Amino acid sequence: MVEKIQRVAQEIEAAQIGNAAELEQFRIAYIGRKGAIASLFDDLKQVAPEQRRQVGQELNQLKNLAQARFDQAQEQLSSTTAGTATEAAFDFTLPPVPNTLGTRHPLSLVRSEIVRIFERIGFNVADGPEIEDDWHNFTALNFPENHPAREMQDTFFLSEDRDKLLRTHTSNVQVRLMENQKPPLRSIMPGRVYRNEAISARAHMMFHQVEGLYVNKGVSFKDLKETLYYFAKEMFGQDTRIRFRPSFFPFTEPSAEIDISCFICKGEGCNICKQSGWVEIGGAGMVDPNVLSNCGIDPEVYSGFAFGMGIERITMLKYQIRDLRLFTENDVRFLRQFKGVI
Ligand code: PHE
Repeated sequence: MVEKIQRVAQEIEAAQIGNAAELEQFRIAYIGRKGAIASLFDDLKQVAPEQRRQVGQELNQLKNLAQARFDQAQEQLSSTTAGTATEAAFDFTLPPVPNTLGTRHPLSLVRSEIVRIFERIGFNVADGPEIEDDWHNFTALNFPENHPAREMQDTFFLSEDRDKLLRTHTSNVQVRLMENQKPPLRSIMPGRVYRNEAISARAHMMFHQVEGLYVNKGVSFKDLKETLYYFAKEMFGQDTRIRFRPSFFPFTEPSAEIDISCFICKGEGCNICKQSGWVEIGGAGMVDPNVLSNCGIDPEVYSGFAFGMGIERITMLKYQIRDLRLFTENDVRFLRQFKGVI
């Protein structure tokens, strides 16, 4: 019996415990209820009563030895497995997280599309300041001095004397072009404009327009119509029709509101066109002779047409977007829906 105990003690001392499976094997072999030590305790009954106390003590020592060996091996293993676990967090076989490319803003896409269409028929692109003076935004454009028209445009004035302001339309660039260049002029001018309006689904204090101007000898309303007709077909589809409604702007005479036939319902009537079959995209007209002379162009020699369209308006129609605020919130769930290269 004592020999047996010594042999088991040697085995325990020599046991190789290198991983969790071996640790479990060790536990079953020595500590478990059916293990070597338990069966030795069973054998204790057969030991002569006078030796039993002595053998029992040795057996208890063996039991402690086995437990100590187990605890030590377990601790060693858990510290090494912790190390392995951190290494395992880097799984080099996993596919990489793809790099997501940004997309163009819908307003940029539509602006580029508009610019490209007009470039094909000989328009070049011009630019002007967003912080403007009264002359270029109003006076040169034939807005009478102290006329309520200035208020009509909900202007953000930047100076007490009202001479510095945020441009309310891109028509200021018309003036700057006509002042600085000699006809023929054929330009489109996309840009940001500002009006003091409460922000809602249908109005914003900041939006975009694209202005068009053609000044030459003998330019007529017919040229304006054909140019915008070409644009409407290229932008909204070849079966698009166009309509002009009489209107008023101080800087054009005659003036018109431009409508296109609703490309959603093809003129049948739907909720985009409010059942009318037509949707408005901007204003236009023949450059007022006063504006030409304000800019140093002889209205007896030259005539011209101008138009201004809302880029948000066209984008909303094209993509059926119902809330203007989406354009400035920059919510990626909205922006990601627009894919394009231009
Ligand atoms: N500037 C006008 C507006 O903002 C639009 C327009 C431009 C009308 C050119 C006629 C000619 O409402």
